[in-house]
Amino acid sequence: MAGGRGTRLRPLTHTMAKQLVPVANQPILHYAFSSLYEAGIRDIGVIISPETGADIRASAQLWQPADVTLTFIEQDEPAGLAHAVKIAHGFLGASPFVMYLGDNLIENPLTDLIASFRQDPCDALILLKSVDNPQAFGVAQLDANHQVVGLEEKPAQPKSDLALVGVYLFTAAVFEAIAQIKPSARGELEITDAIDTMIAHGRRVRATRLEGWWLDTGKKDDLLEANRVVLDAYCQPNLAADVVQDGAQFRGRVSVGEGTVVRNSVVQGPVSIGKHCVIEDAYIGPYSSVGDGSIIRKSELDNCVLLERCHIEGIPTRIEQSIFGTDCQLVRNEQPPAAYRFMIGDQSVIEVV
Ligand code: TTP
Repeated sequence: MAGGRGTRLRPLTHTMAKQLVPVANQPILHYAFSSLYEAGIRDIGVIISPETGADIRASAQLWQPADVTLTFIEQDEPAGLAHAVKIAHGFLGASPFVMYLGDNLIENPLTDLIASFRQDPCDALILLKSVDNPQAFGVAQLDANHQVVGLEEKPAQPKSDLALVGVYLFTAAVFEAIAQIKPSARGELEITDAIDTMIAHGRRVRATRLEGWWLDTGKKDDLLEANRVVLDAYCQPNLAADVVQDGAQFRGRVSVGEGTVVRNSVVQGPVSIGKHCVIEDAYIGPYSSVGDGSIIRKSELDNCVLLERCHIEGIPTRIEQSIFGTDCQLVRNEQPPAAYRFMIGDQSVIEVV
């Protein structure tokens, strides 16, 4: 599912699809694709919106291994997850399928879930995770035997703290249920209503509690947290062959892309630095990701996410827990500065602490 509006991730999503916001220097969507791929799935339908569809398509094709077929399915408007499944009916046919939200990521391999779906057949297998703010999610109510008795979308008074994780397994029985539901108060065909209808018609719906981590970058987790979790889980020491190291100290797990120059700097992993960056007289601290083409000079970063082509130079105070969008600059020209000069995009946040 890579359509939707992405209003909650602004300002980054003013200019990019939320599924393409990078986590540890890779679009979150690529991790979802890889998870499907590792589970043996080679036929992937991608729901796209008219606004961001071309970007999603281009990015998906960058990821695409030779043995994968990608089918792009345009959804005119974000009319709900069940609507997205409905318009994918032609692509899905009668096959059982995995529905994966393109801005979500789970730690557990899909292979285990698919095996469970096959061994103990049901028409829907949903994943649940307890959360602090169930009001923001689809919420499941279980009976004493852990059977799902009902689901509600963003309830004001949740009946449990078990949120529906953005990965679902269905048989084609879901289409009958979707045909029977009506748009919700927010005008969407809700997947929770479709699953509820399946239960009401005696279809077997199973729930599994997720033990591993779950990221929902479009909603629950802020990007810094997602970056931290993904760097912890996936970052491996990996310096491209042509990285220039001139007085560079790499400590811990550091990954550096091709064409990058690191001079007189300390990089303390886990850190991911993209391609064609220049890092000079700098310190890059743990849980930072630096996008391709960025320049960092005479500055210290800790736990920061920089998208592509950022320029940070001459900042005397450490920068921590900060996110920089594409082509952002934070540069100190004069010593000492006589004034601040800003050009800050819509809905940006600057905090001097
Ligand atoms: P949401 O985060 O529920 O919806 P949204 O993208 O409209 O977000 P916001 O509220 O921030 O504006 O969507 C979950 C995922 O499913 C996300 O990757 C977008 C995708 N999606 C579709 O592809 N089609 C849809 O109709 C909807 C509602 C979501």
